[in-house]
Amino acid sequence: MKDFRGKVVVITGAGSGMGRDIAVKLAHRGARLAISDVTPDGLAVTEKLVREAGAEVHSQLLNVAEREAVLTYADTVAEHFGVVNVVFNNAGIAHHGEIERTEFKDIERVMDVDYWGVVNGTKAFLPHVIASGDGHIVNTSSLFGLLAEPGQAAYNSAKFAVRGFTEALRQEMIVAKHPVQVSCVHPGGIKTAIARNATVSGDHDQKATAALFDRYLARMTSEDAADVIIDGVRKNKARILVGTDAKILDIAVRLVASKYQWVSAKLTGWAMSKAG
Ligand SMILES: NC(=O)c1ccc[n+]([C@@H]2O[C@H](COP(=O)([O-])OP(=O)(O)OC[C@H]3O[C@@H](n4cnc5c(N)ncnc54)[C@H](O)[C@@H]3O)[C@@H](O)[C@H]2O)c1
Repeated sequence: MKDFRGKVVVITGAGSGMGRDIAVKLAHRGARLAISDVTPDGLAVTEKLVREAGAEVHSQLLNVAEREAVLTYADTVAEHFGVVNVVFNNAGIAHHGEIERTEFKDIERVMDVDYWGVVNGTKAFLPHVIASGDGHIVNTSSLFGLLAEPGQAAYNSAKFAVRGFTEALRQEMIVAKHPVQVSCVHPGGIKTAIARNATVSGDHDQKATAALFDRYLARMTSEDAADVIIDGVRKNKARILVGTDAKILDIAVRLVASKYQWVSAKLTGWAMSKAG
């Protein structure tokens, strides 16, 4: 996918953060856009921005966790534009809490959106993307799909699963000789609403956790992240690492293998003792 001009690009979770910025940037590159989100206000803002950039746009409320709705949506988009080239399965949510104090429903909610949302979007659009003759599926995992962290088990589970699903898909497209490229996106800390919209369990304070993320961990702007992701898609990268943190920690984990868990546990324990 060297040139997005005239290409039909589907973006889930387009009402905020990286989904919105990818949409706006691809609108400027001449793509035709199918944007969706579960939040109407955010989606309306993105729709306005991409229209101002001159893009042809189809905008629809969609919960990626609702399989039947996603299947119907894929047919609607394909019928509307006549073709579907690129799908960004970007929608996602976060949850912070230790396994001991996290309810099953919290883990299920994250899996439903972050993992099953990606599976639903991929399966629903794949026949259309194959039929396009020039397609690309872009699934968003995370740095937390490369390494696990205390308090992130729900998110880690979903994002590791997205990585496995996507890496298998890329190989299957090669084996089947389908004209479909596949990329897995692993952002580090990006300045978006993800932590502010996250849920927490146990005695974690939602606002304090979000403030910590926004202040210390979110290093890159969403606009810059969107540039890196689009560039990675253009270069057909299997793994798109977004941010210096993602790049360094990816190498570190591969160098020390499972020993990273000891370091991570010690650092987290130290940070928690400082926080009181
Ligand atoms: N921000 C980061 O530091 C970071 C790091 C790694 C991975 N990610 C991943 O990047 C992707 C984009 O997140 P972001 O950081 O831009 O966050 P964001 O919160 O700004 O945007 C996420 C969007 O997804 C939408 N969404 C949530 N649940 C949905 C559902 N069930 N159906 C449809 N849309 C839904 C939200 O309404 C929101 O508009 C997510 O998959 C996230 O897990 C983010």
